[in-house]
Amino acid sequence: MVEQVTSKFATVRILESARDASGYAAEEIIAKAGPGMRFGVATGSTPLWVYEYLREAHRQWRFTLSNATAWALDEYVGLPADHPEGYRNVLLKELVEGDATGLHAEQLHTPEGSSPDPEAAARNYDAALAGGADLQILGLGSNGHIGFNEPEGSFESRTRVEQLTPQTRNDNARFFGDDVSAVPERCITQGIANIMSAGHIVLLAFGEQKAEAVVALLEGPQTAEWPATVLHDHPSVSVYLDAAAASLLSTDYGRS
Ligand code: F6R
Repeated sequence: MVEQVTSKFATVRILESARDASGYAAEEIIAKAGPGMRFGVATGSTPLWVYEYLREAHRQWRFTLSNATAWALDEYVGLPADHPEGYRNVLLKELVEGDATGLHAEQLHTPEGSSPDPEAAARNYDAALAGGADLQILGLGSNGHIGFNEPEGSFESRTRVEQLTPQTRNDNARFFGDDVSAVPERCITQGIANIMSAGHIVLLAFGEQKAEAVVALLEGPQTAEWPATVLHDHPSVSVYLDAAAASLLSTDYGRS
């Protein structure tokens, strides 16, 4: 593993496997975590190994979220509150249950996607989130989305109700028994402006289905066509990739 400074981001780290890349990302999070931290958490499959590392570090007394709060990026609209793929329930399972990381359920903040008034729920979440996370974990959509900020949206956007694109619903059908029609059509997502106000960002991308978005992020111009390119303007971003996600890059960023 070699650390490489690039013009766009503080660090880009490419590891052979997603598990190894997750280990390095988790160690960075552990090193930066502190009491009172507002920890911005992503869902989807990408951060799962990071969460596993964080749980292990908590067992070893090296890491705790007991004095932190955690803030989800997004939540589906319209799923029943007890649906296992609801992001609150995923995060409870990953970070809370069984004293996984020291985080208690009341310290976990998620948009209320099952609210009868999702627009009001989005506004309430935006107000509660206010200044943003201290440390934000991000995954990357195959279309370059961050949170559920889909292509061609405004870089000034804040927490709101969004329509998921057909591509994102297809990508996420695997969580719903491969039945695209079961994937909600709408979500509440933090906006780009919320994400940009995070103090530090750890972005992870794994698998060849992310390779094109990774090229846009690391080597392309800033464009709303690839929402993640807004991060070119963020002063403190670390990017962790596996070899498959990095496979279309024009240089190896120092990967050994
Ligand atoms: C999830 C989120 C999304 C995902 C992205 C990648 O909270 O905000 O941006 O990070 O869709 O999803 P996975 O990790 O499932 O490939």
